[in-house]
Amino acid sequence: MTEHLVCDTAAVAPGDVAPFTVTKADGETVNIAVIHTENDRWFAVIDRCSHGRFKLSEGDVDGNCIECTRHGSAFDLETGNPLNPPASIPIQTFPVRLAGDAVYVSLASN
Ligand code: FES
Repeated sequence: MTEHLVCDTAAVAPGDVAPFTVTKADGETVNIAVIHTENDRWFAVIDRCSHGRFKLSEGDVDGNCIECTRHGSAFDLETGNPLNPPASIPIQTFPVRLAGDAVYVSLASN
């Protein structure tokens, strides 16, 4: 896993989600959604619903879940597991670490 500086904590308000593109050392880009929950927890997931490839960064944050606004599936931000249909496949989640105001996300390094 390689840690990437993604944004400043001010970039994502509590209860909100924002899209970011991370460029890995090999040049591959990964689109992620960074979530800051109302209870001040931070999560990062792949920015693509497992059902219809819709951007989860356009979804709604509800507690520790994000709901895809395309067809309404919600995903647990801790596990990536879908909580209701039509999605049936988990989404990829990434570890987040805060250092002061900096938000770091770890991605697989290959
Ligand atoms: S595209 Fe997300 S639930 Fe269908």
